[in-house]
Amino acid sequence: MRVFVTQPIPEPSTREILRDFDVVIGRRGLARETLIAAGAEADALLTTPAERIDAEVVDAAPRLRIVANGAVGTDNIDLVACRARGIVVTNTPGVLTEATADLTWALILAVARRIHEGELLARSGTWDGWKPLELLGISLEGKTLGIYGAGRIGESVARRGAAFGMNVVKMTSRDGEARFEELLSSSDVLSLHAPATPETRGRFGEAQLFRMKKGAILVNTSRGALVCEAALVKALEAGHLRGAGLDVYEDEPAIHPGLVERSDVVLLPHIGSATEETRLAMARAACEDIRRVLTGQAPAHRVV
Ligand code: GLV
Repeated sequence: MRVFVTQPIPEPSTREILRDFDVVIGRRGLARETLIAAGAEADALLTTPAERIDAEVVDAAPRLRIVANGAVGTDNIDLVACRARGIVVTNTPGVLTEATADLTWALILAVARRIHEGELLARSGTWDGWKPLELLGISLEGKTLGIYGAGRIGESVARRGAAFGMNVVKMTSRDGEARFEELLSSSDVLSLHAPATPETRGRFGEAQLFRMKKGAILVNTSRGALVCEAALVKALEAGHLRGAGLDVYEDEPAIHPGLVERSDVVLLPHIGSATEETRLAMARAACEDIRRVLTGQAPAHRVV
């Protein structure tokens, strides 16, 4: 049976777990025609957030039994098309929680303490010594950390917030508008951890960003679709927000040019889960579920 892995992943995962299968590994930046052609011959796909597995790919893959997404988010996959064909979809929750929470905190601290600007100054050759008014950020102790999407990762970010002496306000998908408004108006740092769904897409548009507390920081390590980047640029330009830390974008890998040119924004290339340990654990989890489904067992992390 053929397993197509869209990009090289940490080993030994395919070599060990999928050794009884015919594994073909694609290259980074896979052309769409290549993906469709490879899918057409595959019994299983191991995908990443960089590939769009839509109805076209699914329809062209008559043998496909499982799409194992090496990620916790599955918004890159047409779940309806998979369900209609009886194709199992799995993800890799749990193993990436702490790494993503750590990276979220790297962004919170980087924006609050102006790490990007400080780094540039220190390397520039123009720094001429300690100054009482140089690069003043904000203290986090006693401030309010808002968590939009208090699932595994959001809760883990919240725990770290308590260790920094912050008050934490959390919102889950079960909370209503009143809690959302409270989150907007009370958070000094608002951190987003919800999946991209019809309910969350575009949730942070111009109106919401301007209802955030003046001088607040927005951090997003979940999905870019939650935030309207053009509106975020406006809120930063207007001086309404102090800064933003982003790991994900509306139209990845493109980033709004208005964000790229700002020094009060810290930008990372979607590396929330990118530690050696975590990426290996994700690869192994996806391979295990492929092995299970192709040998007639139930997968551990079924989404569809
Ligand atoms: C990465 O973005 C993931 O969803 O795991």
